[in-house]
Amino acid sequence: MEKIDYSKRSFAYYPTNAIVIAKYENGAWGKPEISSDFMLSVHCFAGAFHYAPECFEGLKVYRGADNKVRMFRPDENAKRMISSATYLDMGYPDEEMFIEMCKMCVRANWEFIPPYESGASLYLRPVLFGMNPQLGIRSAKDVTFIVMSSPVGTYSGAKALMPGTAVLSRNYDRAATYGSGYYKLGANYAQSLHAYNIARKQGYRELLFLDTATHTHIEEFGSSNFFGIKGNSYITPDSDSVLPSITNKSLRHVAADMGLTVEMRKVYVEELAEMDEVNACGTAVVITPICKIDDKPTLESTEITKCYHIGDPENCGPISRKLYDAIVGMQKGLLPDKYGWCMILEEK
Ligand SMILES: Cc1ncc(COP(=O)(O)O)c(C=O)c1O
Repeated sequence: MEKIDYSKRSFAYYPTNAIVIAKYENGAWGKPEISSDFMLSVHCFAGAFHYAPECFEGLKVYRGADNKVRMFRPDENAKRMISSATYLDMGYPDEEMFIEMCKMCVRANWEFIPPYESGASLYLRPVLFGMNPQLGIRSAKDVTFIVMSSPVGTYSGAKALMPGTAVLSRNYDRAATYGSGYYKLGANYAQSLHAYNIARKQGYRELLFLDTATHTHIEEFGSSNFFGIKGNSYITPDSDSVLPSITNKSLRHVAADMGLTVEMRKVYVEELAEMDEVNACGTAVVITPICKIDDKPTLESTEITKCYHIGDPENCGPISRKLYDAIVGMQKGLLPDKYGWCMILEEK
């Protein structure tokens, strides 16, 4: 097999050995099977192709400095998938089945768990979609659940903790006030693709969405949650249309333990001017510092109404770095797992 240079990987697909697949038909789950065939045979009338009864998850598996392999908070991903599937009114794997299939996937792809020194990890992508043929607008009756994996590096391909830029999305919304933003549905991401493409073509690393009702306060980035540091406070938006990030939840816990005041509340756009540090946070982006945010009348416009400069453009802010070291330290076995968030996996 070709030797993979894991240190050069970004967040992109890389083929591995196998996926784990299970089907829920006529009200019952079949046995999860490991398959080296990545091509699916799916009915073209399956709801997933038409009305998007589909949700997914993302979690990482890390090889530690001690060579142990750790999966981070898979129970939280299982719970979030159950909440997404419940919103879509379709069947779902219970927590035990979800975690067992993740473990099966890791074992089947063990040689793709990157070495500790590379800084890369094995990303797991559990996907659940409606598979029964249908024409009417109905929730899926039968579903397929697949856990797949890919070794990944940093989200942007840049060095970890290297600050990037973002732009506010004033004329494209991601998730409506009473919509589905709280759930991890593929449909939410479809909503963001066009705007994301415009922002990326202009060289921005991230796109920051606002609340759809008033466009006055911050919701989240296209790929991740938002948090800012102001003085001794960790500030993150409280919104029913933002994905409840497991990374953000963990960071809030760590921040409180470090003696920071955790504020989960409405964050007005103008507050960006007072922030000492701003970051995107999530499984894929980990903590990514944002050093400049442009506000424009529209994404397409060349006019910049306001430009927020936050912190040092070359370096991650000191408090964000402490949070990064704390969380990554636990994931990579450099620090004690004092909250019991890591599940240690064995090859067999
Ligand atoms: C839109 C969005 N928000 C937030 C997150 C972060 O969630 P988590 O920390 O659970 O990965 C993600 C995924 O990583 C995301 O896609």
